[in-house]
Amino acid sequence: MRRMPLFVLFLLLPLSSGQGRPAAGDPRDGGQTMTAKIISGKEVSASIRQELAERVAELKEKHGLVPGLGVILVGDDPASHSYVKGKEKAAGQVGIYSEVLRVPASTTEAEVLKMVEDFNKNPKIHGILVQLPLPDHIDENKVIFAIDPKKDVDGFHPVNIGRLHIGEECFIPCTPNGIMELLDRTGVELKGKNATVVGRSNIVGKPVAMLLLSRHATVTICHSRTTDLAGECRRADVLVAAVGRPRMITADMIKPGAVVIDVGVNRIEGGKLVGDVDFDAALEVASAITPVPGGVGPMTITMLMKNTVLAAERTLA
Ligand code: GUN
Repeated sequence: MRRMPLFVLFLLLPLSSGQGRPAAGDPRDGGQTMTAKIISGKEVSASIRQELAERVAELKEKHGLVPGLGVILVGDDPASHSYVKGKEKAAGQVGIYSEVLRVPASTTEAEVLKMVEDFNKNPKIHGILVQLPLPDHIDENKVIFAIDPKKDVDGFHPVNIGRLHIGEECFIPCTPNGIMELLDRTGVELKGKNATVVGRSNIVGKPVAMLLLSRHATVTICHSRTTDLAGECRRADVLVAAVGRPRMITADMIKPGAVVIDVGVNRIEGGKLVGDVDFDAALEVASAITPVPGGVGPMTITMLMKNTVLAAERTLA
């Protein structure tokens, strides 16, 4: 066989984002636009749930331990009810015992704190989740701070947030944890890459920025007062959009070949669900992108299951 010239070998090298092919605008693209790889959270989620079901079966068999999840849902927000139903269903799928307390919006803060305390003391419950948002008369932080950090499977307690920041064992918030799993299982290299996070929420923006930093990415966090949002986004090899504004990230804000993670779930006129990224246009520029629905969403619930299994496993240590 004839030996391949060096420059041909170079042309065959994968892209830095790890997707293995040139993107639109890249000289190796031959001037053609191309379609990004779709990162399916649904598929990744299904395989992680399978792995978790095996871990749960082992816990039962070897230790007689059934991981338990306690959920508190206050009020009648339809989205919250639908999320909690999804969590209950996922728990059943992987063999996790779950208890869901659905209480009216008129429930007092003291009553919610008492439910948290009861779950804290209940040996059958290893993970506690208080579905947010809570009604206005209940102080969310007071409730979150009342959860035993060892059962805080949402990773919202200041002890877990602090431990995340210093790289100690903790519970990682579910959506950021799911994003990292998607990047890892897609083979995206983070070391030395520019990662831009749009959105600075405690639930997604801040923790995902910290996780990307811990993996040696150079991280920029953008928000509503960022002066040149488009410019900051265009520098990103990995772009995480978590703003909650339908299709706010347009194709011209995406660096050719970037990996795009869309955390947004926005219902637009006509009832359609769309992300924070203009998906159809982004497909022609990015090298890989998560869809909405079917991207980050399914991963959030799966990571809650993972944290609950971890919480149960940690009681054996
Ligand atoms: N409401 C929206 N997302 C979340 C979440 O990840 N955890 C909780 N507890 N409430 C939420």
